[in-house]
Amino acid sequence: MHIWAVGGGKGGTGKSLVSNGLGTRLAEKGQQVILVDADYGGPNQHTYCGIRKPDTSLVQFFEERLPLEVIAQKTAIAGLRLIPGNINSHNTDNLTTTQKQKLFRHLKNLAADHVILDLGAGTGYDTLDTFLQADVQVGVIAPDTLAIENFYLFLKNLKYRQLGNTLSMLGLRDRAKDIWKNRAEHGISTTKEFVAHLRTIFPEFSERFNEEQKKLKLHVVLNLVREHRQAEVGHAVKSAIGKFFHIDVSYAGQVRYDKDLWQLFGQDTPALHRGGSFTLRQDLERITEGILNAQPLERA
Ligand SMILES: Nc1ncnc2c1ncn2[C@@H]1O[C@H](COP(=O)(O)OP(=O)(O)OP(=O)(O)O)[C@@H](O)[C@H]1O
Ligand SMILES: [Mg+2]
Repeated sequence: MHIWAVGGGKGGTGKSLVSNGLGTRLAEKGQQVILVDADYGGPNQHTYCGIRKPDTSLVQFFEERLPLEVIAQKTAIAGLRLIPGNINSHNTDNLTTTQKQKLFRHLKNLAADHVILDLGAGTGYDTLDTFLQADVQVGVIAPDTLAIENFYLFLKNLKYRQLGNTLSMLGLRDRAKDIWKNRAEHGISTTKEFVAHLRTIFPEFSERFNEEQKKLKLHVVLNLVREHRQAEVGHAVKSAIGKFFHIDVSYAGQVRYDKDLWQLFGQDTPALHRGGSFTLRQDLERITEGILNAQPLERA
């Protein structure tokens, strides 16, 4: 089973649309897929799935210990199920890290080929950790400066989190903190120099950090493309990420803006069903294939 995480920091770039498109395409290819609305603060994946009022939600997992298999609801697309978000909960934003980790553990045991997590906006530790732990990591951007700036911030936080997690795993966090505090004494002024220093004095860190870094393989999707010339943004961002963040990155492709998408909501049918937007279906099919080509997954 493969866990996919769709994130990217900024709100409104189309993380939920892309999650839904990936799930729809994989299910139409005959795979068993479970979409998870992991946007604890603003769940709306059910609306993309054409489910007005979900009967179950993650609230029952967190508060009543109901198994995820029971919470997962069928959608109108064969093979595609949905675990709806914390709708109607009074404490949506206040889930503890322990609760979120427990959710991830249970997700791994689901009987499905693919579990796709629609992440919320922002760069909270839980969102970053979920993204880092996923097998397939998808970042959604839009062709505007603010969205791209936010995405770079997301990646920067992701890298810092990866560094912090590696140090914690090895019990070196406090010693590393001390070095950073007294960095002038060590002749360190940048993060890059800090990491290089840590690598020299802690060979076990160096090895582990390399392993952790290898686990990050980013697929970038450019959504909300309105004009032909905006398509270049995807390639440019991909190159910049490779160059500045040293992340293994591939460009999965673009999704065009569809002015009629809003009309596909609230009709009790999934937004991307066969009769829905041809452009969006076509683009999201290409994206899914692009990701699978860049990162072939052995059959679950
Ligand atoms: N390709 C597109 N064409 C037209 N409208 C789109 C497209 N992608 C997204 N939208 C619209 O933009 C809004 C945001 O999309 P979506 O909810 O998928 O983004 P998000 O990144 O999940 O946002 P959030 O961080 O708030 O969860 C929605 O109203 C959606 O209908
Ligand atoms: Mg969303």
